[in-house]
Amino acid sequence: MPKEKEWTDFFDPTQILHLLGLNSSVVDAADFGCGYGTFTMPAAKIIRGKIYAFDIEPALIKEIEQKTKELNLNNVEAILRDFVAEGSGLKDLSVDHVMLFNILHAEKPENLLKEAYRILRVGGRLGIIHWNYDATTPRGPPMAIRPKPEQCRKWAESVDFSFEKQLDLKPYHYALVMRK
Ligand SMILES: C[S@@+](CC[C@H](N)C(=O)[O-])C[C@H]1O[C@@H](n2cnc3c(N)ncnc32)[C@H](O)[C@@H]1O
Repeated sequence: MPKEKEWTDFFDPTQILHLLGLNSSVVDAADFGCGYGTFTMPAAKIIRGKIYAFDIEPALIKEIEQKTKELNLNNVEAILRDFVAEGSGLKDLSVDHVMLFNILHAEKPENLLKEAYRILRVGGRLGIIHWNYDATTPRGPPMAIRPKPEQCRKWAESVDFSFEKQLDLKPYHYALVMRK
């Protein structure tokens, strides 16, 4: 991850979350690879229930815990976990919204999508954000592992998600909304 300021300047998180269908009718959510909590914290303020925020980096999990306290939020559970190796550990049908933001270049993306499908309640939404498939973006994973939107959609449909919409999050990202 680049420094936090550089990373967060790429996004308007609250606006993006609304575009992806996160609103106050959502009870619980899960953020896979929460990083600095760029999207976790705004999501926690929008939803009615709890957000489970997963990351493999202990320092980032500590940061999330610290920010949760500073912002007086009581609905963020930061979880140190390798979700590629171990899944999320959440129960089947336990959340209404899953966030897979800037993470689908990970190993075994289909397994991650299967896990998202398993934990989502029926009718729940999956939001995917990724860097445009364009080598001139200022950051982003190497092109060899950077997925195109068509690829993400195919992976998600292969584990039974239905396509809802694709968005252009100018200047550097795209988003997909998929539904269980
Ligand atoms: C590029 S950052 C994206 C952060 C956040 N989703 C965002 O868009 O602002 C990817 C994050 O996923 C975490 N991560 C990568 N592989 C992981 C794994 N196997 N298990 C848990 N976290 C992982 C990294 O530590 C990093 O914080």
